[in-house]
Amino acid sequence: MVDPANPSAPLPSGAAMPLLGFGTWQITGDSCYAAVRTALDVGYRHLDTATVYRNEEEVGRALRDSGVPRDEVFVTTKVPPHAEDPRQVLETSLQKLDTDHLDLWLIHWTEGESIHEDLWRVLLDAQRSGTVRDVGVSNYSLDQLDRLTKESGQQPAVNQIEWAPTLYDADVERGHRERGVVLEGYSALKNSDLDDEVLREVADAHSVTPAQVVLRWHLEHGVVVIPKSVTPERITANFAITGFSLSPEEVSRVDGLAA
Ligand SMILES: NC(=O)c1ccc[n+]([C@@H]2O[C@H](COP(=O)([O-])OP(=O)(O)OC[C@H]3O[C@@H](n4cnc5c(N)ncnc54)[C@H](OP(=O)(O)O)[C@@H]3O)[C@@H](O)[C@H]2O)c1
Repeated sequence: MVDPANPSAPLPSGAAMPLLGFGTWQITGDSCYAAVRTALDVGYRHLDTATVYRNEEEVGRALRDSGVPRDEVFVTTKVPPHAEDPRQVLETSLQKLDTDHLDLWLIHWTEGESIHEDLWRVLLDAQRSGTVRDVGVSNYSLDQLDRLTKESGQQPAVNQIEWAPTLYDADVERGHRERGVVLEGYSALKNSDLDDEVLREVADAHSVTPAQVVLRWHLEHGVVVIPKSVTPERITANFAITGFSLSPEEVSRVDGLAA
């Protein structure tokens, strides 16, 4: 059942992936620690990091110090496709994040047409061993998803790709839904003009901000969104998107920003 106060997507393991998470790219050290502490304090229960972000230690420390039980937080990290020893990369991620398991482990990107099938088998092994609850990919096309599924016999649970109203593609969205792959969007705000007239009008109608409309639009589509901010007011506002909803007409208007 969908909980309107905490919308989520079901994953193959039976876990529920919160549709709203906190992104941590380009924040390291104390500012990362502070931002993640704020995010957990205001209610985020989903954190997105990666080996190459070089902040897993701060994310892990913030999670531990927050006092929020580990099992209440959905933690994603990602392995670079060129990792020489991905099993060691996983060990290091677990150690830095100070956890005995990941909720989601992703192959971070693809190189050319490659699908990184050998690396994918390492992710599947980690899942079988219970160290990782669900496994997926990032920056894969639908064709690459299909090739990986065909070669390995197991479809990625999630594909994390660049996504925003300006990038909206109904075929790509439908392609993920038809396959049962959760579409997780990134860089929603960076790809949005927050002075856009349509976003402003829709925002005014709900007494919210254009940024909140962009984030809420993802939830209306059942797409995961992981805004990043180091600004406490923005971290708080970006989380406050379950107290209003967009009508189908408003969703269509925002979809139209991609035109
Ligand atoms: N898989 C991949 O290849 C990949 C690639 C990129 C990103 N990601 C993930 O997706 C997450 C989000 O993407 P992103 O960090 O690229 O971009 P984003 O979340 O779309 O945008 C972040 C920028 O928006 C600003 N911002 C945040 N909230 C705002 C608000 N309410 N109003 C106005 N501006 C606001 C932030 O500024 P301040 O911080 O100064 O407040 C920051 O400059 C990343 O952190 C990462 O976890 C994954």
